[in-house]
Amino acid sequence: MTSLTKIRQQQPYKWYQTMRETSPVHYNEKEDCWEIFTYDEVKRVISDYSHFSSDHKYLSADKQEKMIRHINKDSLLKMDPPEHTVFRKLVNQPFMPKSVESLEPRIAAIADDLLQAVRSKGRMDIIEDYAFPLPIIVIAELLGFPPKDRDIFKSWVDQSQNVKDEKKMNEVQKQMIGYFMQFILQRRKQPQNDLISHLISADLDGEPLSDKQLIGFCGLLIVAGHVTTENVIGNSFLSLKEFPHILPRLLENKALLPDFIEEVIRLRPSIQRVTRYTAVESEIGGKTIPAGEKVYAWIGSANRDEKKFENADQIDLGRKPNQHLSFGQGSHYCLGAPLARLEAKIALSHFFEQMSAWRFTEDQEPNLVPSPVFHGVDRLLVEF
Ligand code: HEM
Repeated sequence: MTSLTKIRQQQPYKWYQTMRETSPVHYNEKEDCWEIFTYDEVKRVISDYSHFSSDHKYLSADKQEKMIRHINKDSLLKMDPPEHTVFRKLVNQPFMPKSVESLEPRIAAIADDLLQAVRSKGRMDIIEDYAFPLPIIVIAELLGFPPKDRDIFKSWVDQSQNVKDEKKMNEVQKQMIGYFMQFILQRRKQPQNDLISHLISADLDGEPLSDKQLIGFCGLLIVAGHVTTENVIGNSFLSLKEFPHILPRLLENKALLPDFIEEVIRLRPSIQRVTRYTAVESEIGGKTIPAGEKVYAWIGSANRDEKKFENADQIDLGRKPNQHLSFGQGSHYCLGAPLARLEAKIALSHFFEQMSAWRFTEDQEPNLVPSPVFHGVDRLLVEF
């Protein structure tokens, strides 16, 4: 790994600051893409789909050829309105705030079970024992997958993070498609009260969803619904380590917990960048990007733009409104935002209530996972 890549990976926020100051709209020759670092410009790129599309069809055939095929390429994440609006409606309902609230007792029970499993050990890895299993069990149950298969889902994500090897990626995709297809066939025969059975029985203009469309939903929801929330929970603990004065304030006043979680989501967004493609020649930040280019909008940088957020690198529990871009903006605004916030609140409050006199162990420093997109740490050890 070159030292520049290492700095980008392990200290992304320093790199973002330099880019905001020196080249906020930047052409990256090596990766043949444009990168956007400042708040107003990132916000525009992720919401103005008439210029910055989610669909890679605008890339030249030559550039499309070089893309690593991904299971999510046919998912709603890669569509623009009006097609996107129709597909999004199919999955909106179980993720609306009212539906999500009804999951609270089940999420609390999962959190309690996970804490109970480690209590007698006197130590735990926040990531492996808590932040990872909690959201994967929740989303698997919602979709209808057996939660015991969670290690399979994890291995897909671990193998796909930062993959540059097409052969390896194809192998993972094959495994995912095989797993999902088997599951879809089973649910077609015996529908249950779960999201996949609901999608199987849904129709678009009188036609059922195709296998490819169903697989796209499975892949998107199982990945988007766990690794992101795992990172919100993990990054919350990481932030308590980084800003030790915050914990006593949270313990004294539990009502501050949602404000703390919102600041963690701003400071360390689980998804650091999203990708768009210029549908037409586009002016942004004083530069002109030709049509048919790939554009990375760096949310992680926008959220620390001092022009938008005072003391941007600090946690401010009184920051209102907190207009971070971590859940995106506009038509693609994150479907799972209410669920992710609820899971994080339950995970933290139950941990604080049940683990007395806990502290971070000094023996191993956590490392950021090696991904330019997902932002979280590999481990976080605590004793109690
Ligand atoms: C329960 C957990 C979650 C689920 C089920 C979920 C699901 C989704 C889905 C399905 C989309 C696509 C929406 C669309 O195209 O209409 C989406 C978008 C997005 N999600 Fe989430 N998500 C979750 C948690 C998170 C978290 C914790 C973050 C970051 C803190 C996040 C960040 C985003 C972003 C940035 C987008 C917009 C992508 C874009 O504009 O290209 N998600 N999410």
